[in-house]
Amino acid sequence: TKTFNIAVLPGDGAGPALAAHARRVLDAIQQTRGRHAFVLSELPFGAFALDAGASSALPVDTLSSCKAADAVLLCGCGGLAHHGTQPEQALLRLRSELGTNANIRPVSFPSIQLVAASAYKPDVVADLDITFVRDLTGGVYYGRRQEADQHGLAYDTTEYSRHRIQSLAQWAGRHAMHFTPPKTVHSVDKANVMATSRLWRSTVTDLFADEFPQVPLQHVLVDAASETLSREPTALNGIILTENMFGDILSDQASGIIGDPNVVASSAIPTDGRAGIFEPLSLKAGGNPAQSPIAIIQAISLMLSLGLGLRAEADAIDNALRRTLDPPELVGANVQLKTLGACTTTDDFMRTFLDKLSY
Ligand code: IPM
Ligand code: MN
Repeated sequence: TKTFNIAVLPGDGAGPALAAHARRVLDAIQQTRGRHAFVLSELPFGAFALDAGASSALPVDTLSSCKAADAVLLCGCGGLAHHGTQPEQALLRLRSELGTNANIRPVSFPSIQLVAASAYKPDVVADLDITFVRDLTGGVYYGRRQEADQHGLAYDTTEYSRHRIQSLAQWAGRHAMHFTPPKTVHSVDKANVMATSRLWRSTVTDLFADEFPQVPLQHVLVDAASETLSREPTALNGIILTENMFGDILSDQASGIIGDPNVVASSAIPTDGRAGIFEPLSLKAGGNPAQSPIAIIQAISLMLSLGLGLRAEADAIDNALRRTLDPPELVGANVQLKTLGACTTTDDFMRTFLDKLSY
């Protein structure tokens, strides 16, 4: 058995409630599987940290604990500026400090009942299965920037190096190869306008020709990708490999297809193998504390599989989630369930889920 140290950042809004769910899920995994131990340390982050007197939304001790941990579970972040700082700044710093250059966001329906909660026709989206592989620590987010000067001029710049593109594309290629047949990689750029996109396209083309000739590779312009995503999203099934801002926008667009932003999980991992950050995709601090625990459950599954290499444990979580959302007595029944399956409260949902996880 191995002991994994997990830094839990409850953050703000619904975060602390989600952190409590996370503890119960990991306790249940530890008890029923008995293979590994999880030691969870809750650390102040975001507006909560500022309220508690820290001078930054990412306090020094929190950062060093995150660096020392095997994985970071981030439960809530964002919302209104607080004590003069925007909590998002803390998240951007955490990402760059941990070197989490790859943002992995799988978008698919975890259950058939959830398909009914989408605004799309079931046959258009039921098979949706896209994994976003987005650069997370480069591009316009971290490029040279100027706030408005006295002439009313401001700018943000997008910068990419060949090396940064290669590291991410390599991860995408290796991930595609884990499937038989290998997944298709859709590389999204704006090569008809942007220099960084032309570098992106030629780098990805060369790398796949050299290292992943078996992986189908397609180049798609970002505006066309957005149009396809809203009309026929399954045409982009496979991997979407893209730069920071395009991936930010497209992954939110894709999560909108699922119908409830509280369902999709996100992970930020360093392609050099250090600790990753795992989180619900929508971290909005204003979130309802009673929000669906599905995203945090999926974030834990990602943490176990991508971050800690515990594939069997991740599978157990995915199965328990599916069985909670699609209980056999409801499969095929003509019910319009929302995102808690047959349960009416989050407590009820968690009880059912933990029960299925344990047996
Ligand atoms: C995300 C979020 C962040 C981003 C914000 C909160 C800075 O939208 O994780 O996608 O834009 O990367
Ligand atoms: Mn976003």
